[in-house]
Amino acid sequence: MDNMIYLDHAASSPLRPEVWQAMADVVDTAGFNAASMHACGRNAQETLEQARADIATAVGALRGEVFFTAGGTASNNVAILGFARRRLAEKPLLVTTAIEHKAVLQAAHQAAREGADLEILPVDEHGQVDPGSLDAVLSADRGRPTLVSIMWANNEVGTIQQIPELVEIAHRYGALFHSDAVQGFGKLDMRRETAPVDLLTATAHKLGGPVGIGLLVCRRGTGLEPLIYGGTQERGVWPGTQNPIGAVGFGKAVQMCVSERDSHIPHFVAMRNALERRLCADIPSIVVHAGGATRRLPNLLSVGIPGSDQATLLVALDMAGVAVSSGSACSSGSTSGSHVLRAMGVGKEEDYSVVRLSFGPDTSDEDVRIAGDAVIAAVARSRAAFAN
Ligand SMILES: Cc1ncc(COP(=O)(O)O)c(C=O)c1O
Repeated sequence: MDNMIYLDHAASSPLRPEVWQAMADVVDTAGFNAASMHACGRNAQETLEQARADIATAVGALRGEVFFTAGGTASNNVAILGFARRRLAEKPLLVTTAIEHKAVLQAAHQAAREGADLEILPVDEHGQVDPGSLDAVLSADRGRPTLVSIMWANNEVGTIQQIPELVEIAHRYGALFHSDAVQGFGKLDMRRETAPVDLLTATAHKLGGPVGIGLLVCRRGTGLEPLIYGGTQERGVWPGTQNPIGAVGFGKAVQMCVSERDSHIPHFVAMRNALERRLCADIPSIVVHAGGATRRLPNLLSVGIPGSDQATLLVALDMAGVAVSSGSACSSGSTSGSHVLRAMGVGKEEDYSVVRLSFGPDTSDEDVRIAGDAVIAAVARSRAAFAN
């Protein structure tokens, strides 16, 4: 959509031209069933394995520890239900947080219905988990299989958790650690040497790769029950015909993000901070969600507008040619639906609207300036609509 200023990269970051080209380059050689014995199949498999190796290198894992899935939702479900179902006889414990993506929370609730115990950690007003609360839960409940699942960065407000410290606590008590790293993957340093998580979820479409392919990095020996049954592809963790062309796109997107990180991150931070300053200066009583968090995603700004009408706000921005969202793409658009904001204790009033602006590699200062004007005008309209 050439005529839109697209600031919804946290929902989906459009396929990058270089990724498209990398996929196009292998269409003729890799568009086959990677499980076939003939030369065409073997070529497809070679391509798939090269992509797997490239991604493994980026996260400091072994190639055999990277499993391709259908996306972030699939990987989160495999990690959580796969862990719990393998250990149901031992009454496993799952520890997660109140601000996880629904793909973690709903999977954890399902595991609880099947017999696991579930502990949900609270967050503070910036969306931060207190590592002490994890320590308290784990020290009070030892001696059974435990999985801690804490997202690396939040998709609605951008808070980044202290993953290395949280992993260290989990491991001290013999628990395994899973992180839904979908939002920070490619932007933050997730190498094992930085944070030795046991299970890590990522998805290609958040970093300019294709929709419909994700991955689960699973440390050797973790032991997961499959969720679906079929062939031996992805060693049974996610069976079914594999997607070598998608894997090439995913690998290319990861490689580009990692190599551009040093130049892109400061630019994202500068744009986010400039926009935040501008909106705070021109919109009375605006709230910056997670504004006081120790660490935030560099490319995401979420603001709350008291005394305004959410629908009017979003329609006005859409009509102005600025694509943003009101929070998670998975929630309906009403802030009362945001379990994340509720857990942070903000935005409970009916007249509280939310705008989430998230940037990508092609976002320019000019885009952000125009978007700032549009948000300010849309807020004026939506406040007027609410007042009437
Ligand atoms: C934090 C987080 N986890 C998981 C998902 C789900 O990923 P996918 O859309 O690939 O299923 C998303 C996407 O919205 C997300 O933001």
